[in-house]
Amino acid sequence: MNASSPSPAQNQATTATLYGGVTNRRVTVRDLAAAKQRGERWAMLTAYDALTAGVFDEAGIPVLLVGDSAGNCHLGYETTVPVTMDQMVMLSAAVVRGTKRAMIVADLPFGSYQESPAQAMHNAARLMKEAGVGAVKLEGGERSARSIELLVEAGVPVMAHIGLTPQSVHAFGGYPVQGRGDEAAHQLLRDAKAVQQAGAFSVVLEAVPAELAAQVTEQLAIPTVGIGGGPDTDAQVLVWTDMAGMTAGRVPKFVKQYADLRAVLGDAARAYAEDVRTGAFPAAEHSFH
Ligand code: KIV
Repeated sequence: MNASSPSPAQNQATTATLYGGVTNRRVTVRDLAAAKQRGERWAMLTAYDALTAGVFDEAGIPVLLVGDSAGNCHLGYETTVPVTMDQMVMLSAAVVRGTKRAMIVADLPFGSYQESPAQAMHNAARLMKEAGVGAVKLEGGERSARSIELLVEAGVPVMAHIGLTPQSVHAFGGYPVQGRGDEAAHQLLRDAKAVQQAGAFSVVLEAVPAELAAQVTEQLAIPTVGIGGGPDTDAQVLVWTDMAGMTAGRVPKFVKQYADLRAVLGDAARAYAEDVRTGAFPAAEHSFH
């Protein structure tokens, strides 16, 4: 081993994956629980179509979320509020079809679970039966605990989502950071414990102070998934269009942009249009004779 080759410990850290070397099955809730035990962090991305989901699956992203962020990131709405169950079923089925290994989690959209645990069960069953997802996500801590309990009892793996819950954008009056101040921090801890107690296998912490997210992560046995929750959660999630630079305009402070796909696609479209205008495309090799 020379100075530049990794030590065995570094090697293990870089080669260990949630797939655990298994390539012929999907990631399960047990894999995620084991990862928390081992202290192994994992990444989650959103996906809204088969093509993109396939790219992320091949890249080894172990959990893909068909988020209702599809509303503003894929379907052209301003918020997640208008997204319907039929839309979620269609998008989720596409993501399932495009992947082989990732666990697919689908959001229950606004209005599809808040009325009653029975309503939550009805719509979670649609996502599992019609789209084939492996788990559902819903927003709310203590307020959603009864629904989580019923779903889990019925065999539906549930990822909870607390802190900034975008379906409440109109009640919040925007997207403010949550959990600031003693009372709000205590409420967030109560929410986290309530969803764990109800049987959720994981919980998203959105837009909360890093110190509070670290405290919640330490106190919970289930994995926490941060988005704007600092570096100490068990996993991280980003909206793929933000992460890859497809989003037009400003992105939230917590986003790191790993590519500039909007510029790449725009350049490709402009070059194609110019070739068509000048007659450079199609050339002989693109034509049948
Ligand atoms: O809908 C979504 O994409 C989400 C993530 C932001 C966690 O809920």
